[in-house]
Amino acid sequence: MKILIYDARDYDRESFERANVGHQLVFTPKKLSAETAKDAEGFDGVCIFVNDQAQFPALNVLKQIGVNWIGLRCAGFNQIDLSAAKNLGLSVSRVPEYSPEAVAEHAFALLLSLNRQIHRAHSRVREGNFSLEGLVGFNLHKKTIGVIGAGKIGKAFCRIAQGFGMVIQVFDPGLTPQSAKEINVKLCDLLTLFKSSDIISLHLPLNEQTKHIINKEALDMMKRGAFLVNTSRGALVDTSSLILALKSGHLGGAALDVYEEEGPVFFDDHSAEILQDDQLARLLMFPNVILTSHQAFLTHEALDEIALVTLSNAERFEKGEWTHLTAKQGKLV
Ligand code: NAI
Repeated sequence: MKILIYDARDYDRESFERANVGHQLVFTPKKLSAETAKDAEGFDGVCIFVNDQAQFPALNVLKQIGVNWIGLRCAGFNQIDLSAAKNLGLSVSRVPEYSPEAVAEHAFALLLSLNRQIHRAHSRVREGNFSLEGLVGFNLHKKTIGVIGAGKIGKAFCRIAQGFGMVIQVFDPGLTPQSAKEINVKLCDLLTLFKSSDIISLHLPLNEQTKHIINKEALDMMKRGAFLVNTSRGALVDTSSLILALKSGHLGGAALDVYEEEGPVFFDDHSAEILQDDQLARLLMFPNVILTSHQAFLTHEALDEIALVTLSNAERFEKGEWTHLTAKQGKLV
């Protein structure tokens, strides 16, 4: 099968070439959009990532030029209009699970860095400043952590939090009391979680219901000084309200791997340009915000698994298995 891999970087090329058995793979750094969709002329399928724009205009072009398969090399699927894809008769697959631990471990790396101010300490000592003033953190031990969404990544995150001796409370309408008991966490409602957590970590998908689940009301309810960790999707958080909560000092800090408007900037080097996104610029100015560029998935293990599963999805399509994702659960039907 001839596949055009959009938004590809060297690490994608390496893992896909390692996993490839007989497909013709072409890599492009361009993101999929209505304009770049025509680059896929002559290809059977395209492979896309989290910030490609697979809305109707791009999908329509793909269909017209003979592309029939779209492989998402990620777990989330908010970047694609699934019903448009289905109506156009495009087969869509994703990688529902590759390495939940990769994401959960990164979430903890961010949390630990934020709390113990590793990002600031690192800059200081490199400048010859060995002062500890202003670097006081708190013990995670016995603190209450609120986890919103306890699927594969949320559960992996809870396992790590257990190792730190934290009190874990979870809001996830999909988690039964029995499952909560099995993973040794307390189930609670969203308001309780907002009001009583020292740290809140998001591990739920982005969709119409969950967009801006962290808004002004939610932030106002949080304990003064609470931390927010978001390694899921940027638009789960209303960035304007987040900035206000940080400016007022009500929110103690934010550890972010994703950002609402990350599409135009993340994954590329813009260091020689003037940053045009004022909200992003503001976030980067806070000493109590740590931000990475959607890299929580980026481990050797995860990349290899993503490549293997994506290419096996392509093989299933080649053998005549036509798959669609449902917008509701992301399940293949
Ligand atoms: P999953 O499908 O295993 O778990 C999601 C959980 O969220 C489910 O248990 C579901 O019941 C729950 N949920 C759904 N709606 C909810 C709501 N309104 N409130 C609370 N819980 C809700 O998904 P998985 O693999 O754990 O991934 C979670 C998210 O992590 C993905 O949707 C994706 O956006 C993000 N992600 C981020 C990555 C990164 O590199 N930063 C990499 C991979 C995933």
